[in-house]
Amino acid sequence: MRALITGASSGIGYSMAKYLAVKNIDLILVARRKNRLLELKKEFKNIDIEIIPLDLSIEDNLEVLVNSTIDKDIDILINNAGFGLFGTFDSTDLETEMKMIDVNIRAVHYLTKSFLKKFIKEDKGYILNVASSAGFMAGPKLSTYYATKNYCLRLSEAIYQELKEKKSNVHISVLCPGPVDTEFNTVAHGVFKTKSATPEYVAKYAVDKMFKNKLLIIPTIKMKMAIFLIRFVPTKLLLHITSNIQERKISK
Ligand SMILES: NC(=O)c1ccc[n+]([C@@H]2O[C@H](COP(=O)([O-])OP(=O)(O)OC[C@H]3O[C@@H](n4cnc5c(N)ncnc54)[C@H](OP(=O)(O)O)[C@@H]3O)[C@@H](O)[C@H]2O)c1
Repeated sequence: MRALITGASSGIGYSMAKYLAVKNIDLILVARRKNRLLELKKEFKNIDIEIIPLDLSIEDNLEVLVNSTIDKDIDILINNAGFGLFGTFDSTDLETEMKMIDVNIRAVHYLTKSFLKKFIKEDKGYILNVASSAGFMAGPKLSTYYATKNYCLRLSEAIYQELKEKKSNVHISVLCPGPVDTEFNTVAHGVFKTKSATPEYVAKYAVDKMFKNKLLIIPTIKMKMAIFLIRFVPTKLLLHITSNIQERKISK
């Protein structure tokens, strides 16, 4: 088997790469930081690892990536690359947010469609899209990020139903973790105030559930309960609670 993982240079993607490598699954690793990808390649001699250093916020790079990988016998696509930016919507940097939309939405959309078509033709394959618990609600002070994760979650759910109606052997899963201890906060200019899961735990949990064809993958009991309970919370109260949670995360 061979997996293509975006955002494999750190955090959840890096841990997923390691977990799949231990399972002897060949890897194609994508991220901007080539040195980090090279470290993984050096560590795992037991499998074939190809590294593709690319900035997924650049539209042309999506075509480059698909053209160079689509015929490579890939069985698993993991759309993991993504980032956020804390701050009120009027104060955050527009250019950074447009890049966020390009990575968290455009790249996920482009790669999912490209590989889904190939997987459907072959009637096999797994797609694992990394959304977030943020995908289930609006997120004042991290608004663009939450909105992008809503897109990722709802797109994946819709594709799941379409595949089911086709009785396809292609499977799509969507990972929705709460806080995970990665480089996310440094990149987003925030700090987590609650206990975070480890990327190793989240990666293993997600990959195992993906192989069991689970649609929604929520790695911790606490987050499973929170996502269940928010259905019963009135929208304005939920916005107030989420805003307070994010306020505490903004690094001063
Ligand atoms: N940490 C959390 O609490 C949490 C919770 C829920 C969901 N998530 C989601 O989990 C995924 C992984 O994030 P993480 O927490 O592991 O954070 P991370 O440690 O910052 O990893 C993010 C990965 O995305 C890559 N990336 C970012 N921008 C990119 C670009 N323009 N082109 C190519 N690759 C890019 C980074 O690689 P380079 O910088 O080398 O390009 C890095 O490998 C994200 O989609 C995130 O939204 C995280």
